Amino acid sequence: MESTRSRLAHRLAEAGQSHLVQFWDELTPEQQAEMTSDLEAMDFQEINKFFRSAMEVSHSSKQEKMDARMEPVPREVLGSVTRDRDCLKDWEEKGLRCISQSSVAVLLLAGGQGTRLGVSYPKGMYDVGLPSHKTLFQIQAERILRLQQLAEQRHGVKCCIPWYIMTSGRTMESTKTFFSRHSYFGLCKDNVIFFQQGMLPAMDYNGKIILESKNKLAMAPDGNGGLYRALGTQGIVEDMDRRGVKFIHVYCVDNILVKVADPAFVGFCVQKGGDCGAKVVEKTNPTEAVGVVCKVDGRYQVVEYSEITLATAEKRSVDGRLMFNAGNVANHFFTLAFLRDIVQTFEPQLQHHVAQKKILYVDTQGRLIKPDKPNGIKMEKFVFDIFQFAKAFVVYEVLREDEFSALKNADSQDGKDTPTTVKHALMSLHHRWVLNAAGHFIDENGTRVPAIPSLKDGTDLPIKCEISPLVSYGGEGLEELVSGREFRPTLVIDESGAHELVKNGL
Ligand code: UD1
Repeated sequence: MESTRSRLAHRLAEAGQSHLVQFWDELTPEQQAEMTSDLEAMDFQEINKFFRSAMEVSHSSKQEKMDARMEPVPREVLGSVTRDRDCLKDWEEKGLRCISQSSVAVLLLAGGQGTRLGVSYPKGMYDVGLPSHKTLFQIQAERILRLQQLAEQRHGVKCCIPWYIMTSGRTMESTKTFFSRHSYFGLCKDNVIFFQQGMLPAMDYNGKIILESKNKLAMAPDGNGGLYRALGTQGIVEDMDRRGVKFIHVYCVDNILVKVADPAFVGFCVQKGGDCGAKVVEKTNPTEAVGVVCKVDGRYQVVEYSEITLATAEKRSVDGRLMFNAGNVANHFFTLAFLRDIVQTFEPQLQHHVAQKKILYVDTQGRLIKPDKPNGIKMEKFVFDIFQFAKAFVVYEVLREDEFSALKNADSQDGKDTPTTVKHALMSLHHRWVLNAAGHFIDENGTRVPAIPSLKDGTDLPIKCEISPLVSYGGEGLEELVSGREFRPTLVIDESGAHELVKNGL
């Protein structure tokens, strides 16, 4: 024990982190043992190196705006659901064929801490208050089930879409328990693969690791770009290879409209020969705080709103659209070959981004302090930082109202990206599906509601309507259930048919 301790003390001293054991003598033997094993597992030299280079990059990027080095996405790498409508069927066909060959996997980034939403459990377990009370995880699982079924019907072979779920130290246990409690929502357990991203300590501005209590370091997940290191350390690339996966759709947990394994997106990327692709929505408001996909010094990347001047954000092309309008919705396509190159070669070149945060800490007297301004940094890699290594990068533009509504914040008056706005976005999409399938809605007096769908992102009150993903993945297959019929909301369509709910509990 003593030699372990002195070895550890030596390593800490060498790395300038001896303060981590300043309360050692006050700890119980169990706490000492636990802390020893936490500290033993850490590579302080590497952490210090990450800190130095992250601070350097953060400092130099503050000095210069990106503007002069940016170019918009060229038309030849861009596919659009509106501008290339003629190609859509082909792309979808292509994607469905790949799915039927079991060569498409989906990968969910679910290691975030949901701090803004303010819940203590993983965001995927959140019930936004739909009539069915399905959680985000359940909605995604059922879309996978339905898509497998569609591909099987089309091509007459059994297929599977493996679902890789990246969690973190904070979300792993509760996520796994939730899936097991819900019998994997009908998916085959072997095809739901959990793996864990890394964690990094929070540091103060002098590079000292922060203690959140006398015996615990302040740790946080290493960003959604922690994916690439985790793919290597957890043997996920090999697992994909063994299963015959060739294409991977990576997405974030919080988008209630996400088209998991979207056949049109996959088909487009494959048809174009892309090794790496991004789904985008058109950014229409120059000040919207969304990153844009563009080229910087000839290489693709996502540039955050804060990194450019307002003048650049406001620039318009001859067609009147914003010049930098490819809004990132965190839906990415990768070939397995590309991911393997990233994991084996490029991952170490990815730099951590610095996020300044208010981090709870204990002072030298051991008192817990809640700072009122940022007192340190968290280091994160971003999932899109690998775009720069693509040999054939492609971009796919979709309609926001059909595909993107993210749950970020707790409900509040006029809040954006809240449980209410995402619930409304889903219901107004489903309302439009019913109208497209020639169904009608009537009000409480039996009068037909004009067939004018709400297109806004969940900010006005929609017709209450929910369609189970087990019935329809993207609006298909609804005619026989709704055509020529009138419904009084709340309308719920599930495997047992179309029902009006008597009580409007929404
Ligand atoms: C993200 C995108 C942003 C995009 C927006 C759209 C990144 C870095 N930024 O921003 O460009 O416009 O979504 O909604 O992708 N996560 C992990 N591990 C972590 C941190 C996060 O798995 O360590 C996961 C979260 O669980 C979530 C996703 O990554 O599913 C996005 O994380 P979040 O921090 O919410 O990203 P945004 O800032 O909203």
